[in-house]
Amino acid sequence: MTQPNSHIAPNETAEQHAAFEARIERGEKIEAGDWMPAEYRRQLIRMISQHAHSEVVGMLPEGEWISSAPTLKRKTILMAKVQDEAGHGQYLYHAAETLGATREGMIDALLTRKAKYSSIFNYPTMSWADVGMIGWLVDGAAIKNQTMLAGASYGPYSRAMVRICSEETFHHKQGKEMIVAYAQGTPAQREMAQDALNRWWWPALMMLGPHDADSPNTGIMSKWGVKLKTNDEVRQEFINEHAPELLEAGLTIPDPDLHQDADGNWKHGPINWDEFWAVIKGERGLGQERLATRQAAHDDGAWVREALQAYTDRQRAVAAD
Ligand SMILES: [Fe+2]
Ligand SMILES: [Fe+2]
Repeated sequence: MTQPNSHIAPNETAEQHAAFEARIERGEKIEAGDWMPAEYRRQLIRMISQHAHSEVVGMLPEGEWISSAPTLKRKTILMAKVQDEAGHGQYLYHAAETLGATREGMIDALLTRKAKYSSIFNYPTMSWADVGMIGWLVDGAAIKNQTMLAGASYGPYSRAMVRICSEETFHHKQGKEMIVAYAQGTPAQREMAQDALNRWWWPALMMLGPHDADSPNTGIMSKWGVKLKTNDEVRQEFINEHAPELLEAGLTIPDPDLHQDADGNWKHGPINWDEFWAVIKGERGLGQERLATRQAAHDDGAWVREALQAYTDRQRAVAAD
């Protein structure tokens, strides 16, 4: 029988859990065919599919700017970046499939709003500088989170993260290079960079998730070696790196309470969590439009899925003969 506050399912034993946790303790990776608690599998599918959806929906805000890039160099960089995000979605959907999730089920959960994706991608991209600011801050925040997840106990997730992080590093660098250039450019460029920072700073802090006290899944996922740091710890790392660099670039961070404590940590003012939840639920921002765009892309791709199925059926029929 399941005990209160226990993650042991009715068909699992305390001994199985102890052996599983001992493996994690020894630093072993858990692989797809290994025994694992049902709750570990369920939480990982939730996390990895949510992460995959974020990569795929994350192509939309920046993709809108490909045709308006100011130079061929910036355009080719942006095209490569958006294409990378599609690849990240693919690695992650595959990682979730190793746990028994199906592609159809995950896509359906996204399109019917049963699954979440990162709140950050429901914000509009208002100017070209947003592309640079997303690279610097959003990819920068993603790297902090993903570097932590590269050490996760589930092998397929951890290995996907190692590969993704190296590409995110390029995304981060191109964004920083662009914003630093504009911050030191003409008055119009400086204004564009500052305006982008004003709009993206707080959403970037929020995308690292609710404060630890409001993050119910953190406890068991850190015990099982998936989340090796809490949301607030990752957010602190992000601010400590980015606040001094943004200031050094000559920009103003839109937080009057921001300051560096004696211990070296940069402290932020209160975060507007009402906005965070409203954006995640699609009550504010572009949630409806983003999903409508994904739905249209899914519908447009129906013939590809049908053709693949017909090809597979034919191959099977030939093999059976
Ligand atoms: Fe990515
Ligand atoms: Fe990225």
